Amino acid sequence: MAIVRFFRGALLLGVAEAEEDQPLVEVAEKAGVEIPTNCTSGNCGTCLVRLKSGEIDYPDPLPPGLDKSLVEDGGVLSCCMQAAGVCDIDVIPPL
Ligand code: FES
Repeated sequence: MAIVRFFRGALLLGVAEAEEDQPLVEVAEKAGVEIPTNCTSGNCGTCLVRLKSGEIDYPDPLPPGLDKSLVEDGGVLSCCMQAAGVCDIDVIPPL
């Protein structure tokens, strides 16, 4: 079971439980948090958020909208990635 907490900076926006294979953007919606999306397929980067703590299932290879340096900065494409356990997400993407 994965519990995801969504923040904007230090402000807690909402918490929701992720179902199996549920992308983070849908978990956010359940928590009452809106994350903008566009392509919903890992290409455009519109849905980029930042992992504060916890683990994400990163696909291998990474989708076109994400690269290694963004991942090192905590970058997560919320339209097509799932929480691997309890995690904290900042809706402000890495700069
Ligand atoms: S909405 Fe385009 S990468 Fe997620």
